[in-house]
Amino acid sequence: MRSSLAGAASLLFLAGVASAQDVTYAEHVAPILMENCVTCHRPGEVAPMSLLTYEDASRYARQIGVQVSERRMPPWHAAPDLRDYTNDRSLDDAEIDVIEQWVATGVKRGADALAPPIPTFNDSWQLGEPDLVLSWDSPYQVAAEGDDEYRCFVLDPKLESDQWVDVVEVIPGNRTVDHHIVIYIDQGGTIAPRRDEAEPGEGYTCFGGPGFQAYMVPGWGPGYVAAETPAGSGYLLEAGAKIVVQMHYHKNGTAQEDLTRVGLRYARRPPQRVLYNAYALGAMGFGLRIPAGESNHVVTGQYPISEDITIHSLVAHMHYLGKAMDIWATLPDGTRVDLVTVPRFDFYWQTQYGLAEPQRLPAGSVVHMEATFDNSPESPYQHSNPPREVTFGEATTDEMAVAVFFHTRDAENLSGGSPSR
Ligand code: HEC
Repeated sequence: MRSSLAGAASLLFLAGVASAQDVTYAEHVAPILMENCVTCHRPGEVAPMSLLTYEDASRYARQIGVQVSERRMPPWHAAPDLRDYTNDRSLDDAEIDVIEQWVATGVKRGADALAPPIPTFNDSWQLGEPDLVLSWDSPYQVAAEGDDEYRCFVLDPKLESDQWVDVVEVIPGNRTVDHHIVIYIDQGGTIAPRRDEAEPGEGYTCFGGPGFQAYMVPGWGPGYVAAETPAGSGYLLEAGAKIVVQMHYHKNGTAQEDLTRVGLRYARRPPQRVLYNAYALGAMGFGLRIPAGESNHVVTGQYPISEDITIHSLVAHMHYLGKAMDIWATLPDGTRVDLVTVPRFDFYWQTQYGLAEPQRLPAGSVVHMEATFDNSPESPYQHSNPPREVTFGEATTDEMAVAVFFHTRDAENLSGGSPSR
């Protein structure tokens, strides 16, 4: 329930109209939906229903009220108020109040002329035509029914020398089944092709990752907004590197095809710094052991920082039994710095949290992670009945506790020279 203080704030917010009784779709609600919901809630997109018109929105008004009040929609899983993120999707208190008032006062339509136009959507490259576009050979056939499918496709950018990339963009081939897409680089270029050849058909089965330690670059998820690498930095793809595209397909009842495209933009000027990944692993990775039935199993991990770095974004990665993750750093003097806290982890929303203000960490700092798993029968995505002990691994029924952080090394300066490793 919202506090009476928040209620008072909403009345202030609504001071421009006569009273809360006058909240209408056209004037007050449609702007919020157009701005925050319809990227996903429109025909052909991942969300179960469109919210483009008054008819749509009023039909689902009750569910909208509930989902918005509980902060389940828009999907955003970082705890509020710890710090700001570049890709924060959450509504603010005033917007939530408007929607609650609208539902409570009879879902009024208002004058259509006051409603904002339906936005135009760009389903093509968000940051312009890439320098290189890659795809697999023929559309992958996704069956109508069955469990979610995780498949890795191996693409060859045919790089003859090391290449700086400052934008990686993905155009999902079929938004009705492409649930999320993760992109890894096989820098040596030999491991991923072997995996591919070992299995018939295009690509290979993969779930928790590509099956080997790989460099991660941005992928795609519903509502994903493409971004350039932070100023002065870039992704470094080594000569001969292969790109592994991990597709998570969520079947939708009819047979579908998918041919996803990956675009790379080459950096116009050589960046000074590489955008690296580092991983803090819970329970030292292989030590992970989650007892059957345990609803609150906590594991911790640490990553000591040995030179000055700047963190730009983070991913909290667990599988189906993941319940919460907290990622923070301690400075050399022991001060705690919050990075991202995911109090209600949801496997289906793997987000890369971009720090609005990049976090500098001096040498001697430590990145910490604490992950909580729910292996009880009530766990929302429990896959074993009865629950069984779960250990570290990349299969659907294995687990992982990984805090990935994308960072630059403050002292690195490669501009002019050739990239060093
Ligand atoms: C990033 C994509 C995305 C955005 C943005 C988004 N939704 Fe959703 N929404 C989904 C998906 C996907 C589902 C299906 C359930 C799930 O996967 O969590 C869903 C489910 C829902 C449901 C539940 C439908 C049911 O089955 O009862 C409601 C209601 C809803 N969204 C309303 C909203 C509203 C209102 C907003 C904006 C304030 C919004 N959503 C923004 C993707 C999105």
